[in-house]
Amino acid sequence: MRKSKLARFAELDTFTNVLQNFNILEPVVVNNKKEVVDPKGKWHDMIFRNQNPIVLELACGKGEYTCNMALADKSKNFIGVDIKGNRMHRGAKRALLEHIDNAFFLRTDINIIETFIGPNEISEIWITFPDPHLKTGKFLKRLTSPRFLEKYKNILQPDGIIHLKTDDPTLYEYTLEVIKEEGHRLIYADDDIYTKPLVNPFLEIKTYYEGMHLAEGRKIKYVAFRLKA
Ligand SMILES: C[S@@+](CC[C@H](N)C(=O)[O-])C[C@H]1O[C@@H](n2cnc3c(N)ncnc32)[C@H](O)[C@@H]1O
Repeated sequence: MRKSKLARFAELDTFTNVLQNFNILEPVVVNNKKEVVDPKGKWHDMIFRNQNPIVLELACGKGEYTCNMALADKSKNFIGVDIKGNRMHRGAKRALLEHIDNAFFLRTDINIIETFIGPNEISEIWITFPDPHLKTGKFLKRLTSPRFLEKYKNILQPDGIIHLKTDDPTLYEYTLEVIKEEGHRLIYADDDIYTKPLVNPFLEIKTYYEGMHLAEGRKIKYVAFRLKA
C-alpha cells in the first residue's frame, strides 16, 4: 500500500466525524478514540445532537454530495456511507476543515447498514454513481436491487424518498424495472437530466465519478421513488 494511502487511513482514524467498521464479520463501529459505539437509533441524540431529518448518501466515495448537500441545507443532517476509507478521507477532512457540522461519515459495507442505523431514522437516501455491476449474475450487488431495497426499508421513514443518480443506462433501466415489478412508487425519472431545468437543486452537485462521466460525454440519469407501503 502506498505511503500516502496509509497516511490517509491513519488520519481518518483520528477524525471526530467518522465511525468505522473494519470487518463485515465483526459488525461493530469504532470512533476516533477506538471505542466501540452503538449509534443505532441514536443518530439524532448521540451524533447530531438535534432532531433534524437525516439524509443518507450511499456509495459516497469522496463525499462531494454529503458535504455539498449539508452546506446547502443546514436544516438537515447528512451521513455519507462508503466502504473505502481512502476515498471517504477527502469528504470527512473537508467537513472538519469547513466546519460542516451537519455532515458525518460512516465507513461500512452497505450490506450491514441496518446494524448501525435504526428504523425510521432516515428521511431520504441518495445513491450517487454506484457500481452498475454489469456482469451476469451480479444483479444482487446493485444498490437498487430488491435485496438492498429491503434493507433501506428497515431504516427509511415510510414516505422517505430514494434518489439514484447514474450515468449507466443498464442500471437506470434495471432500477425502473425493479420499481415497477416490486410495486414501488415512482416519483420522477429522466435519462438525460442536464438537457432541462433540474427538478431537485441537489442534482447540481457533481461527484468525482460524475466529472469523469461528463468528460466522456455520457448522459446523466436520475430516478426518484418511494418504497411501497
Ligand atoms: C463508482 S464509485 C462512486 C463514488 C461516488 N459516489 C462518486 O460518484 O464519485 C462507487 C462507490 O461505492 C462504494 N461501494 C460499492 N459497494 C459498496 C458497499 N457494499 N458498501 C459500501 N460502499 C460500497 C465503493 O467503495 C465506491 O466508493
